[in-house]
Amino acid sequence: MLDSFGDILRKGEVSDHDLRDLAERVAELNSVRLSNHDIELEVRVDRSPVATLAPSKFPLGLVLGAVTNLIDNSVYWLSSRWPENAEQGSRRLLIAVDADSYEGPALIIADNGPGFADGLEDATEPFFTRRPDGIGVGLYYVNLIMHTIGGSLRMVDTDLFPLGDEYDGAALALVFPRG
Ligand SMILES: Nc1ncnc2c1ncn2[C@@H]1O[C@H](COP(=O)(O)OP(=O)(O)OP(=O)(O)O)[C@@H](O)[C@H]1O
Ligand SMILES: [Mg+2]
Repeated sequence: MLDSFGDILRKGEVSDHDLRDLAERVAELNSVRLSNHDIELEVRVDRSPVATLAPSKFPLGLVLGAVTNLIDNSVYWLSSRWPENAEQGSRRLLIAVDADSYEGPALIIADNGPGFADGLEDATEPFFTRRPDGIGVGLYYVNLIMHTIGGSLRMVDTDLFPLGDEYDGAALALVFPRG
């Protein structure tokens, strides 16, 4: 498995990206899937002219793959907390950009599922899973990609960086190296 990751990592073409564009791209790519699961999506980006956000250098394909893994997890855990017949608007997902809270710009993915039962050190271990059908490689892969591009995967401390009461589940930050 590590061999094939090495291959993928070598193939990534590195170029400049604005995380706000990435957030909107991710939302677009996942909108049908999320609405099929009755998940309400919020994209929170600051496009005001004073908001300066240096572009980050990373291979887009790899990062999109990482984000997809986070969304996969949110979809599963949202459905596990909120039953099919729950009130409309019960399942919520946030994609946000945070330019200031970390050592580099960050893409935040947060949900209002049950939240993490474990710390990230455990959850990113290969084959660590609490899903009945899980393999436990999703977060391992995300963590590996972020480290490889010089960034990191972090849990958001929502006491320090409040996202809003409606996102009381899992909250992860993909922190990118400064451009
Ligand atoms: N959004 C989330 N909410 C709550 N717990 C989560 C969330 N995302 C991940 N976890 C926890 O972290 C564990 C590891 O996640 P990971 O994506 O690595 O594996 P998996 O989803 O269980 O299986 P796989 O991704 O290989 O199909 C999960 O089983 C779950 O316990
Ligand atoms: Mg997963």
